[in-house]
Amino acid sequence: MKFFIDTANLKEIQEAQDLGVLDGVTTNPSLMAKEGISGKNNVLKHYKAICDIVEGDVSAEVIATDFEGMIREGEELAELDEKIVVKIPMIKDGVKALKYFSEKGIKTNCTLIFSAGQALLAAKAGASYVSPFIGRLDDISFDGIQLIEQIRTIYDNYGFDTEILAASVRNPIHIIRCAEVGSDVMTGPLSAMLALLNHPLTDSGLAKFLADHAKTNA
Ligand code: E4P
Repeated sequence: MKFFIDTANLKEIQEAQDLGVLDGVTTNPSLMAKEGISGKNNVLKHYKAICDIVEGDVSAEVIATDFEGMIREGEELAELDEKIVVKIPMIKDGVKALKYFSEKGIKTNCTLIFSAGQALLAAKAGASYVSPFIGRLDDISFDGIQLIEQIRTIYDNYGFDTEILAASVRNPIHIIRCAEVGSDVMTGPLSAMLALLNHPLTDSGLAKFLADHAKTNA
């Protein structure tokens, strides 16, 4: 399973990259706003800075919600760097834009997926990735992982190439469950990735190894 980091924070992206397990980055307008990035030029510069840190795909979301606007913004984003994946919302004009970009060979990530029907539609329109938001589903007492399983079955039934990018991942259990049910990618915060490191028996085991070594090497 690929690991994407869900942030626009350059320091965190660099830290995840340095760990050696990072496959890409996802951003959204809220994450860009959190970093205080505003104005078209600054936004484009920031995406470029992210592309310069990572080796894999970098999702950059359009703001427009009409077909022409999404095409205009998406083409501009795609020209920035070959790593850019144009992030398109799951709305009617968005589906048309997915089809347009797929025919042009521009990679897309269909965002705000909350049902299997939406994921099916996005795959039929040629999306490169779909982003089911599992954490936000869990927040309202729907099973986010069950949605990933459903989409996995549908995509496997028909051999869709669209990759399932589990989004809105909040914790290490989300990551492990996504891997168990065959999500292609997960995107989450650095904290969730780092939490995978932790086990009390690892800590106590290492402390004992080091203590024993110190005893005989004093
Ligand atoms: C997906 O690409 C979104 O950026 C993101 O995963 C949303 O996560 P949140 O629900 O934690 O805001």
